[in-house]
Parts: sequence; C-alpha cells; structure tokens
Amino acid sequence: MRFRISLLIILLALVAGTWVIFSRHPVSSPPANLQGVVIDDSGPIQGAKVRYQGSSHFVLSDAEGRFHLPPNSDRQRIAASKEGFFIEGVMSNDSPLTLKLKRLPAKDNENYTWVDPTPNPAQHQNCGNCHKEIFDEWSASGHSRSANNRRFLNLYDGTDWQGRPHVGWSLRDEHPDGIGVCNACHAPTAPFDADLRNLPGVSAHGVHCDFCHKIANALTERIGFTHGRYGLELLRPSQGQIFFGPLDDVDRGEDSYAALYSESRYCASCHEGVVFGAPVYTTYSEWLASPARQEGKQCQTCHMAGS
Ligand code: HEC
Ligand code: HEC
Ligand code: HEC
Ligand code: HEC
Ligand code: HEC
Repeated sequence: MRFRISLLIILLALVAGTWVIFSRHPVSSPPANLQGVVIDDSGPIQGAKVRYQGSSHFVLSDAEGRFHLPPNSDRQRIAASKEGFFIEGVMSNDSPLTLKLKRLPAKDNENYTWVDPTPNPAQHQNCGNCHKEIFDEWSASGHSRSANNRRFLNLYDGTDWQGRPHVGWSLRDEHPDGIGVCNACHAPTAPFDADLRNLPGVSAHGVHCDFCHKIANALTERIGFTHGRYGLELLRPSQGQIFFGPLDDVDRGEDSYAALYSESRYCASCHEGVVFGAPVYTTYSEWLASPARQEGKQCQTCHMAGS
C-alpha cells in the first residue's frame, strides 16, 4: 500500500512538472536547432567540420552540405573548415546560414616573399607582432638559430669557437658542392647554394614561422634521403596570405586547417637524415619504433603541447 501511494505521488509530480514545463515553453516553439549549409563555388561541400568558434563540439556537413547545430546562447560565431579550403565564419543569427568556403590556390608561388617573424610595428604582417608568446618560445628554441648557431658554423667552414679559420673539419673544404645539403634543413628558405655565413634577409632566421606554416604536405617515401624542404610540399600564395595550422575555427580568411600539423611525419624530413652516407639524424625512425608511437603519441604531443 505504501508503495502504491508513493507511486501515485510520483505520477502526480510528473504530471505537474510536465504542466509547468509546457506552460512556460509552449509546445509550438521548442528551442530549434540551427540549420545551415556549407558550399563553395561549385555547390555543396560534404564533410566540412562546423562548430561554434572556441567550442569543442562539432558536426559534419552532409552530402547536400547541410548541418544542424544546437542553439548556443554563449557563442555567436560559427566556423566551417575542410582541408584544401580556407576556414570561413558567419554570425549564428545570419539568415540563411550559408558558409561559403574558398578553395586554396592550386599552385605554389615560388616568387613569394617570406615574412619576417620579428616583432616590428612598421611591418604589420610580422608574426611576432600578434603571436608574442609563440614568438618568444620559438626564439628560445634551436629552430630560430639553426642557420647561424656557432657549432653549426664551426662545422660548416672549419672555424673554431673563437672564429679562427681552418682549424677543424670543414664542409666547405671537404664537400664544396654539398653546401645545399645543410641548407635543406638548417636554412630551408635560403637559395640552394647560398653561403650560410651571409644569408640574405629572412632566411637567416633558419627554421622560421612562415616557412613552417606554408607546409601543405610532407612526403615519407624517401625519408632520410630527401632532406628537409625537399621532402616538404609548400603552398605559397600569389596574393593575400595562407597559414596552415592545427586550428579549424580561425576565420580570419587566411587560415587553413591541416591534420598534418599534429602528425609526426610533418617533422620527419628534417629529423631523419643520411648525410654523406652516414645516418646522422635518426629521431623519426626511433619514434617509429618507440612505445610512444604505439600509445598514439606524436612528436607534437611531447614537444609542442599547448604551444
Ligand atoms: C618547426 C616548424 C614550426 C615553427 C618554426 C613554428 N611553428 Fe607554429 N606550429 C607548428 C606545428 C607543427 C603546430 C601544431 C602544434 C600542435 O599540434 O600543438 C603549430 C601551431 C601553431 C599555431 C596554432 C596553435 C596555437 O598555439 O595557437 C600558431 C598560431 C602558430 N603555430 C604560429 C607560429 C608562429 C607565430 C611561429 C614563429 C614565431 C611559429 N608558429 C613557428 C610548426 C611550427
Ligand atoms: C625545416 C626543417 C625542420 C622541421 C620541419 C622541423 N625541425 Fe626541428 N630542428 C630542425 C633543425 C635544423 C634543428 C637543429 C637546430 C640547431 O642547429 O640547433 C632542429 C631542432 C629541433 C629540436 C631541438 C632543439 C631545440 O632546442 O628546439 C627539437 C626538440 C625539434 N627540432 C623538434 C621538432 C618537431 C617536434 C618538429 C615537428 C613538429 C620539427 N622539429 C620540425 C629542423 C626542422
Ligand atoms: C635532414 C636534415 C638535416 C641536414 C641535411 C643537416 N642537419 Fe644538422 N641538424 C638537423 C637537426 C634536426 C638537428 C638537431 C637535432 C638533432 O641533433 O637530432 C641538427 C643539429 C646540428 C648540429 C648541432 C647544433 C647544435 O646546436 O649543437 C650541427 C653542428 C649540425 N646540425 C650541422 C650540420 C651541417 C654542417 C650540415 C651539412 C653537412 C647539416 N647539419 C645537415 C638536421 C639536419
Ligand atoms: C595582425 C595580427 C597577426 C599577424 C601579423 C599574424 N597573425 Fe597568425 N593569427 C592571428 C590571430 C588573431 C589568429 C587566431 C588564433 C590565435 O589567436 O592564435 C592567428 C592564427 C594563426 C595560425 C593558426 C591557423 C590554423 O588554422 O591553425 C597560424 C598557423 C598563424 N596564425 C601563423 C602566423 C604566421 C606564420 C605569421 C607571420 C608570417 C602570422 N600568423 C602573422 C593574428 C596574426
Ligand atoms: C613521449 C614524448 C616524446 C615524443 C613522442 C617525442 N619526443 Fe623528442 N624528446 C622528448 C624528451 C623528453 C626529450 C629530452 C628533452 C631534453 O633532454 O631536453 C626529447 C628530445 C628530443 C630532441 C633533442 C632535443 C635537444 O635539446 O637536443 C629532438 C630533436 C627531438 N626530441 C625531436 C623529436 C621528434 C622529431 C619527434 C617525433 C618524430 C619526437 N621528438 C618525439 C620527448 C618526446
């Protein structure tokens, strides 16, 4: 009997509760999902990632380019991304809700002028003006000094720590036609046969921001033998900008999502090298054989976490 009474109370409470809910939110207008569509010049785009900017939840557009997102009162902007396109954004109350993605240029522009990383108010495009924290991290890393650190130059031209010439082993004396071999990884934006002691402009910054973020693909067929930039496909624009990266909701119109940036193979052509017949650099192959790889850890998991 006690049981039946409590059941009755529960039922009554449910009915009352339902009544309260529906009297506040009439059935005729439940909070509706946002509906939109992702397209490009030639029609709908399937498989684009769509999310509220800064939110971790995302949905994929269907074969007609359509997507549905739950309403979100905290966030106003929606971004869509797909590899091969620039990331695009719209306000969530736009109607109709259409995200039109722009395709990346088909061809690399070899005459592109590299942007300097150094903060400088007179050069508005310099990376360090806006990415101060990342710039400081990079400045403290080996990448920023790869073309001009002293140990490197000592091997390069046989000088010693004090700069006295012809003291030690010298690449320039032993392999005069092999200069480009070092450039490929240590000064990837220098001309092939450039003298590393007098590098022009931005190329003296070694492995710099703009170079790293123009990498569109990394080949692994001839790892160890195809060095640095020759194992990397670049995409440099003829107008405007392109930055590839791991983020898929940066809708400044210049950025493009690339999964590659979270994968070890991105680092491989520079961090694996047989140089003049000797396996000098073996980090990538060590990783391939490591337990870390089996646990799904990429180079970036340990070396660039949160950067
Ligand atoms: C050796 C190549 C390399 C260099 C040099 C480099 N980056 Fe990156 N950057 C990457 C990779 C790879 C990622 C993705 C890392 C990850 O998964 O966390 C990344 C991530 C980023 C991101 C997005 C993630 C975030 O933390 O905001 C920005 C922005 C960025 N880099 C800007 C810069 C700037 C600015 C510089 C120079 C000061 C720079 N990068 C130098 C390879 C590089
Ligand atoms: C374009 C070639 C290139 C690419 C791409 C590259 N590196 Fe390097 N990296 C170098 C060179 C050259 C050095 C040596 C710098 C020097 O002379 O000390 C280096 C040094 C390093 C060092 C040690 C020095 C330090 O203090 O930072 C780490 C760690 C490193 N790289 C991690 C990575 C990771 C992780 C990736 C991929 C996300 C990567 N690199 C991609 C060329 C590259
Ligand atoms: C395949 C890419 C690659 C090539 C080619 C290459 N390096 Fe390196 N070099 C690296 C990387 C990556 C590092 C740092 C990480 C490591 O030692 O594994 C490095 C580190 C060094 C260092 C140590 C730097 C320091 O700060 O102590 C010296 C010196 C050096 N390289 C000289 C040379 C010279 C000289 C050549 C040309 C004969 C050359 N490298 C060719 C990728 C390369
Ligand atoms: C005028 C300011 C400004 C300048 C200059 C600038 N950026 Fe950015 N960049 C941003 C902002 C804002 C974002 C949004 C994400 C963030 O805050 O990290 C961004 C995002 C990025 C991303 C992330 C792209 C993605 O989809 O993952 C990369 C990579 C990047 N910038 C690289 C660079 C490089 C390399 C340079 C220099 C050649 C540069 N930026 C110059 C403001 C700037
Ligand atoms: C499980 C985490 C982890 C992974 C994955 C990993 N590393 Fe490391 N790596 C480390 C640690 C820890 C060190 C030692 C750091 C030190 O001594 O400064 C190191 C050292 C290095 C060094 C020498 C740094 C120096 O100052 O001489 C280079 C270069 C390097 N790693 C590159 C890579 C590359 C490239 C990959 C991917 C192919 C990779 N690492 C994958 C954790 C990792």
